[in-house]
Amino acid sequence: MRQRLAVGNWKMHGNLPENRSLLDAVVAGVAGLQRAACAVCVPFPYLAQAQSALAGSKVAWGAQNVSQHPKGAFTGEVSAAMLLEFGCRYVLVGHSERRQLFGEDDATVAAKAKALLAAGLTPIVCVGETLAEREGNITEQVVGRQVAAAADALGADGLAASVMAYEPVWAIGTGKTASPEQAQAVHAFIRGLLAGRDRKMAGSVQILYGGSVKASNAAELFAKADVDGGLIGGASLVAGEFIAICKAADVA
Ligand code: PGA
Repeated sequence: MRQRLAVGNWKMHGNLPENRSLLDAVVAGVAGLQRAACAVCVPFPYLAQAQSALAGSKVAWGAQNVSQHPKGAFTGEVSAAMLLEFGCRYVLVGHSERRQLFGEDDATVAAKAKALLAAGLTPIVCVGETLAEREGNITEQVVGRQVAAAADALGADGLAASVMAYEPVWAIGTGKTASPEQAQAVHAFIRGLLAGRDRKMAGSVQILYGGSVKASNAAELFAKADVDGGLIGGASLVAGEFIAICKAADVA
């Protein structure tokens, strides 16, 4: 039985006073969670704030990116060991905005995930097709290539210690959510690919859905057999929305 997980991706949003009230509200709002886990991935400068607000609560925290290098002359980069010092648990890699806007390719994404695993952190490996790719009927080809690149680099043990996130690019920040059936179909496809590597690992890896998840659609998405929770952008910035999504994940 896989635990459901709801992860907020704040992207480049926030400021110290607003973060404080958001974090405090989320801590109070999810205090009664019985089964699900939740986390927020915040901008680097707010990790210390997240650590002090969330330590001892039900909410884990983490970052949205990491360097693939352990240390050195890499101006502007942040290493996995640095993230660990701030109590991070989860770190996003390969988010479509990183792939599209910052030129991260499958090899870079895999190297970042490896660096996280080596430091004892949990990568959330994001995959997903663009609208043109979906309309061109190559969703499985694209997602399959992205998953295979991660699987080749991480191996079954690395994947077992990772989280996957399926985020169709056309659903991110657009208000267009994949239907529960569309999400389930790709999640089952991903799990099938993982099973081709190692059945036990495939049965245990959490696969999150991301792309316009809201309080109003979370329950029907999370009800699908292979949807183990969500990666939530915009709605994670609104305490009531994010709390409701975490509660939607907290079902038997
Ligand atoms: P969204 O973003 O929920 O605002 O669509 C999801 C994501 O990019 O992780």
